[in-house]
Amino acid sequence: MPNAEAYKVRREPFYQPQGDEAELYAAAYAARLPVMLKGPTGCGKSRFVEYMAWKLGKPLISVACNEDMTAADLVGRFLLDADGTRWQDGPLTLAARVGAICYLDEIVEARQDTLVVIHPLTDHRRTLPLDKKGELVEAHPDFQLVISYNPGYQSLMKDLKQSTKQRFTAFDFDYPAAKLETAIIARETGLAEATAAKLVKVGQAGRNLKGHGLDEGISTRLLVYAATLIKRGVDAGDACRMALVRPITEDGDVRSTLEHAIDLAFA
Ligand SMILES: Nc1ncnc2c1ncn2[C@@H]1O[C@H](COP(=O)(O)OP(=O)(O)OP(=O)(O)O)[C@@H](O)[C@H]1O
Ligand SMILES: [Mg+2]
Repeated sequence: MPNAEAYKVRREPFYQPQGDEAELYAAAYAARLPVMLKGPTGCGKSRFVEYMAWKLGKPLISVACNEDMTAADLVGRFLLDADGTRWQDGPLTLAARVGAICYLDEIVEARQDTLVVIHPLTDHRRTLPLDKKGELVEAHPDFQLVISYNPGYQSLMKDLKQSTKQRFTAFDFDYPAAKLETAIIARETGLAEATAAKLVKVGQAGRNLKGHGLDEGISTRLLVYAATLIKRGVDAGDACRMALVRPITEDGDVRSTLEHAIDLAFA
């Protein structure tokens, strides 16, 4: 039996709440209801799950989903070794056995036939059938499923089915309000709040371009990158171009709008 302790979050992660999401999540966990975290990239979803796992003292097993992922990647498979075949649990099975919070990141990326394996775990059954092995795993009482989902990337081809969506409670995440985001950046990097506030201004200028040349605004993650560079002595303009402009767009007009916002903020 694998050791649940190995998956515990060791140190308290820094997480700045935006509202009462920690209390609401705790209520969902107490009832073992599955949770969906919706929101744009880099706004704190993964950090929140780490924080909640730490707060609740439960192990956390995270899986980054992608379109090549098969059900076996989640559930497990037989492996060949010197003594013949040996079953190896996938991360979902492992989490169900040890009683971990299982965090499936970017769930829409996974194919529909991969996704249905989570269904029996998310309703009253709380079971996971291992068809190939002929075993029905009953989820440990502490097991909980959490998925993340970025509605921005969603296309008709790549949306979750209602039968999947309607197995979850959900939280809407978004970039924090300016004051909170400034505090997060300062706390994460040690940068002075006054400088962090200037980065937040640039971030907001970028977010205003969403739908006007940008698919997604500048994330809190990228603002933390820029702050990290500035804290290390990189010129603010260079740091902003490296972290806030070049990664997100090639569009000349959008880039010059962002350049202008950087000049204004750091004038
Ligand atoms: N509320 C917050 N408290 C503390 N740090 C935060 C918060 N929100 C964002 N951050 C910072 O932003 C970074 C990115 O957050 P995180 O990795 O949780 O994003 P995400 O929403 O999971 O993004 P993705 O969808 O791309 O996985 C974190 O590493 C952290 O530095
Ligand atoms: Mg994440």
